[in-house]
Amino acid sequence: MNKIINSDALEALRTLPDSCCRTCITSPPYYGLRDYGADGQIGLEDTPDQYIENLARIFREVRRVLNDDGTLWVNIGDSYTQKNLNGIPWLLAFALRSDGWYLRSDIIWQKPNAMPESAKDRPTRVHEYIFLPSKSSRYYYDAEAVKEPAVGFYNAAPAGSAGTGKPNARRRGNSRTFRGGGAYTHDRAQNNSASVKRESHGLAPNESGKRNRRSVWTVATRPYKGAHFATYPEELVRPCILAGSRPGDTVLDPFAGSGTTGAVAAQEGRDFIGIEINPDYCEIIRQRLDACCQKGAKP
Ligand SMILES: C[S@@+](CC[C@H](N)C(=O)[O-])C[C@H]1O[C@@H](n2cnc3c(N)ncnc32)[C@H](O)[C@@H]1O
Repeated sequence: MNKIINSDALEALRTLPDSCCRTCITSPPYYGLRDYGADGQIGLEDTPDQYIENLARIFREVRRVLNDDGTLWVNIGDSYTQKNLNGIPWLLAFALRSDGWYLRSDIIWQKPNAMPESAKDRPTRVHEYIFLPSKSSRYYYDAEAVKEPAVGFYNAAPAGSAGTGKPNARRRGNSRTFRGGGAYTHDRAQNNSASVKRESHGLAPNESGKRNRRSVWTVATRPYKGAHFATYPEELVRPCILAGSRPGDTVLDPFAGSGTTGAVAAQEGRDFIGIEINPDYCEIIRQRLDACCQKGAKP
C-alpha cells in the first residue's frame, strides 16, 4: 500500500491516526538553501531557531503517529551564516530530545564523492548526520538485518602477541589506543600471517565475519534522474528501513521529495505514506513507485 499526500506536512500528519507507522525516514529541507516553490515550505525561516521550532512541531506529530516501539531516522545537513557554522543538526537533535524523544544515535553519513568547496580556511565538509530518536526507551531495531562486514583494525592483536581473536581491551598494555576507544597495533596490520590477518579484520576464528553496524556510513551521493535536486541515495535509506521495520510495516516520510524512501520501502516489502508539499514532486513519486511495482516489488 502506498499513500502519497500532497500537502503541508503538519496539516497532513494531523489527519493520520495515532500509532499507524512503524518508522519514519526523512530528510527535511536544509536551512536557508533552496526554494522548493511552495507556500508554507520549511527551510526559508528568518532564523535557525524558527526553522528548528517548525521542524520540532512536525516531528511531534510524527511521534504521535508512530507505534510505541517506533523510530525516526532524520537526515540533516548543516549550513553557514556569515562564516559561522549554524550547528543545525545538533540544534534539532536537542530540540527533539527536549520534546520527549530518546536520542539513541547520531550516525555520520560520509560522502566519498562530496562536492568540492571553494573555502580554503577550513576542511571540506564531506558529511551529514542521520539522527535516530525513538518514541520509547525500548523500540524495534533489527540489528541482525543491518550487520556489516567485520573489517578494520578494531580488534587487531598487539605486536608480538599470539592471534587469539580476543578483544584487544585485555592487552591494553601493549597497544596504542585511539582517542575514544578502539585499539590500534604497532605494525601487525602489515603482517601477512593468517591469524593476524583475521584479527586485523576484527574476526575471531569461527565467527560469521559480521559485526554490529557502526555509526559511520560511507555512501556515495547519487542524483535521481527525475526533476528533483536534493535526493538522498537509496543505499542510505535501506539500512534505516531494514533496522526500523518488518515487511508489511508502514514507513512514513513527511518530506518525501522524489520518493526515495517510498521506493526502498516498496523494494523491501513495506507500505509507505509519503507527504510532499509540491504537487510536481508528488507526480514524480507516483511514477517512481509505479516503476518499482512493475519491477516486481510489492505494491
Ligand atoms: C530534501 S527534500 C527531500 C528529498 C527526498 N529525501 C528524496 O530523496 O527525494 C525536502 C522536500 O521537502 C518538501 N517540503 C518542504 N516543506 C514542506 C512542508 N512544509 N511539508 C511537506 N513537504 C515539504 C520539499 O518540497 C522537498 O521536496
